Amino acid sequence: MTILDGKKTSSDIKDEIAEAVKKLKSEGKKTPHLAAILVGSDGASMTYVNAKVKACDFVGFNSTLIDLPENTSEETLLEKIQKLNSDSDIDGFIVQLPLPKHIDEQKVLMAVNPDKDVDGFHPINVGRMTLDLPCFLPATPFGIMELLERYKVETSGANVVVIGRSHIVGRPMSILMSQKRNAGNATVTVAHSRTKNLSEITQKADIIIAALGIPEFLTAEMVKEGVTIIDVGITRVPDATKPRGYRLAGDVHFESVSKKAAFITPVPGGVGPMTIAMLLKNTLLACQKNDN
Ligand code: GUN
Repeated sequence: MTILDGKKTSSDIKDEIAEAVKKLKSEGKKTPHLAAILVGSDGASMTYVNAKVKACDFVGFNSTLIDLPENTSEETLLEKIQKLNSDSDIDGFIVQLPLPKHIDEQKVLMAVNPDKDVDGFHPINVGRMTLDLPCFLPATPFGIMELLERYKVETSGANVVVIGRSHIVGRPMSILMSQKRNAGNATVTVAHSRTKNLSEITQKADIIIAALGIPEFLTAEMVKEGVTIIDVGITRVPDATKPRGYRLAGDVHFESVSKKAAFITPVPGGVGPMTIAMLLKNTLLACQKNDN
């Protein structure tokens, strides 16, 4: 069994990006600048956004964190987005999800200039991705593709089962892996909450991408020997024995499933760090495009 080490791989990618930034700077070119908007004080979102800002520092990017209170109106948020759209120093920006309930998420994502949409959530980027056109790929699926590629996991002709159909992970993952590309050419099944006989489907899978958000949902009986497991879930499960009062659990019961797997991502240290590395990669691409 091989651990798909997202922490190590993301660290390699960040080193590559840091080298590229050094080169840009030495050539007198623009320093990449990422901005992040956070609305409210959800603990997990704050952790993720802070990690994104810290990663910017590490690779030598400029970063701006726009921290807005929970009761921010949709109008104010849209104004902030317009400001970032027209600020020529900002190469890319993200609006951390989820947003408070009184804000229309779709309206917000559509307001982001697609050329600065380094999360790849704007319909233009989603459409371009679907049509195999150059675009910003959403960071989590992009990170998973990169992990599969760097660890040389065979995907061509493989039976892939994606559990979950979210716009951020499941849906784009299913599209990317079916495309003619590196870590693609797979036969993809998308399973979701209405799927019948899920175990029968997962037992035939060569690769399973678990992105449903239910802790330890996928168990050893549901998978075959030699399967590759990508665990996208990361849920805070209350645990009084931990100093923070919770532990982080993936969507996969790691202890049992890892005994049957050929490759498996851990939680934490698997997909999560890859997401941040690919966000940086998209920002670098955005900056290079702007500066040309
Ligand atoms: N919330 C969970 N994942 C993501 C992500 O990749 N980007 C943003 N903006 N919010 C998220």
